[in-house]
Amino acid sequence: MHPSLTTANTQGTLAKTGPSGSFAEDLMILQRLRTETRPHHDRLDNHPLMVQLMSPAVSRPLYESILKKFLGFYQSVEPHLAAFDHWPSLDINLKEKLKTPSLLRDLSSLNVMAKDIPSSPAPDWIHDEASAMGNFYVMEGSTLGGQIITRHVASRLHLSPDNGLAFFSSYGDAVGVRWKETRDALVRFAEQSHAEDVMIESAKKTFEALATWLDKN
Ligand code: HEM
Repeated sequence: MHPSLTTANTQGTLAKTGPSGSFAEDLMILQRLRTETRPHHDRLDNHPLMVQLMSPAVSRPLYESILKKFLGFYQSVEPHLAAFDHWPSLDINLKEKLKTPSLLRDLSSLNVMAKDIPSSPAPDWIHDEASAMGNFYVMEGSTLGGQIITRHVASRLHLSPDNGLAFFSSYGDAVGVRWKETRDALVRFAEQSHAEDVMIESAKKTFEALATWLDKN
């Protein structure tokens, strides 16, 4: 069934609705996620580590320390996403989306020991499917900025997706297609659950937790 033709009724089961109401809802969750988390995204963009990463002077040690930081965050958060089993109903193969494996691959390519890398605190803001979806939005959205980071780091540090840049290059040429899958899943979930506020709150908390984690030495 096309996602924009479904919505949840008071019993929580799916019912058909007219396309015009659904269209408004489609716009609403995606627009709200983008606009309401924009200050959080800006804070990350302007984080000293991200600024140094995108500077012409980016160094291999800095890049490696950022990969370790991201590993600490993703290895803490991703198991909490995997604890929910609604993903297949949204046509999401979560296993394909997890980034911990590519971070480990990058560190191994760069001969950096990945053992004993500290994890960020457990994501206590992920407590249900809606909060998992808000978190998922942030983790997947990062693949968009990842394309810019990939081009920059590839040219400055002479790395490639097969050699140290697997995490930031994520899905390669398929980033756009994968992002569309994520957007469709977010819309479908919002229509079914009417839990937009929880999704957005969780997306904000995810951005905040990552920024706080990057702040820590
Ligand atoms: C220097 C670091 C970063 C840069 C330069 C950057 C840049 C970008 C760009 C260019 C877009 C696409 C905007 C559009 O198509 O309209 C984007 C989207 C996004 N980025 Fe980043 N990004 C960075 C870091 C991150 C990080 C670390 C995260 C989260 C872990 C993140 C999360 C997102 C999200 C969720 C979106 C989707 C926004 C939407 O709803 O359209 N970004 N970013």
